[in-house]
Amino acid sequence: MKSILIQFDTDTLPSVFDRVVAVDSNVEHLFSYGGVTPENVIGLVHGAIFTRGPADLKNTAIFVGGSDVAAGEVLFKKIQKTFFGPMRVSVMMDSNGCNTTAAAAIASARKHLSLADASAIVLGATGPVGLRAAELLALENSRVTLVSRTLDRAEAACESVRAKVASARLTPAAASTPEEFEKLAGKQQIVIAAGAAGVCFLSEGALARLDDVKLAIDLNAVPPAGLADVGVMDKAAEKHGTICYGALGVGGLKMKVHKRAVASLFESNTAVLETRALYELALKVAGISA
Ligand SMILES: NC(=O)c1ccc[n+]([C@@H]2O[C@H](COP(=O)([O-])OP(=O)(O)OC[C@H]3O[C@@H](n4cnc5c(N)ncnc54)[C@H](OP(=O)(O)O)[C@@H]3O)[C@@H](O)[C@H]2O)c1
Repeated sequence: MKSILIQFDTDTLPSVFDRVVAVDSNVEHLFSYGGVTPENVIGLVHGAIFTRGPADLKNTAIFVGGSDVAAGEVLFKKIQKTFFGPMRVSVMMDSNGCNTTAAAAIASARKHLSLADASAIVLGATGPVGLRAAELLALENSRVTLVSRTLDRAEAACESVRAKVASARLTPAAASTPEEFEKLAGKQQIVIAAGAAGVCFLSEGALARLDDVKLAIDLNAVPPAGLADVGVMDKAAEKHGTICYGALGVGGLKMKVHKRAVASLFESNTAVLETRALYELALKVAGISA
């Protein structure tokens, strides 16, 4: 039986990026829908679950994407609520690449450091990628500082991570100048820049001054860099005693995880792939035992 990936995108036009990855993951048929909402998705899900018998449903799967991560999360929940009994298919959520990017970033960190009890800071922690990176660090039992330009938003981000990881050890912090970001980062072993595209947190020369920082990951691929000392292509590059990853350095693992995840959707009809499951997969793909 042919594999069918059904792409539900919350944007009007379904993502070309996600379509290319689906083809590269050897999906045999790709059905792409744009403008998908919690209201219009029910009939589409019924089309997916009522056409093949329960034993064959592992050959159909759903991918949720789009640029609006909050809308993707709502859609992802609605899709799962529409399933019942054995009438379900595997489903993955990766709106704007938020889950695969965070998973690949923290798996890259795990290659080099034990994360348990490590001190980490996430700059731009209130965005979808930063929140997920903080969640995965908390899951690994790191102590995490979540930074926003406003303390209210940093506190709300901590609450949202704590709702997912009850044992999380989190500190909210506010900063908005390179000097303030550097002061906060100086006390940490791991620095992750997850700010909006083109936002620079640490200026050139900062890593040479930050002796405690062992690992720096910049997820921003759009110049100027989020961490000026980290090159976009850096992949475990050592600079001033700090192991550095740039956005494209993490991107190789992210792409492998995305493809492996799509392929794995067809192993059963019950997989639910979001932040944690994709992190476990990223560890596996990176050759790290969980
Ligand atoms: N490598 C990849 O494959 C890949 C995939 C997806 C995303 N990304 C990159 O990952 C990064 C994070 O993505 P995202 O979607 O989570 O980002 P986002 O939501 O666009 O932004 C994250 C946070 O950045 C902060 N921010 C915005 N403008 C700022 C400014 N001028 N100064 C300081 N902070 C500012 C905001 O926090 P506050 O308002 O709370 O301060 C915002 O919540 C982006 O650079 C994105 O391009 C990379």
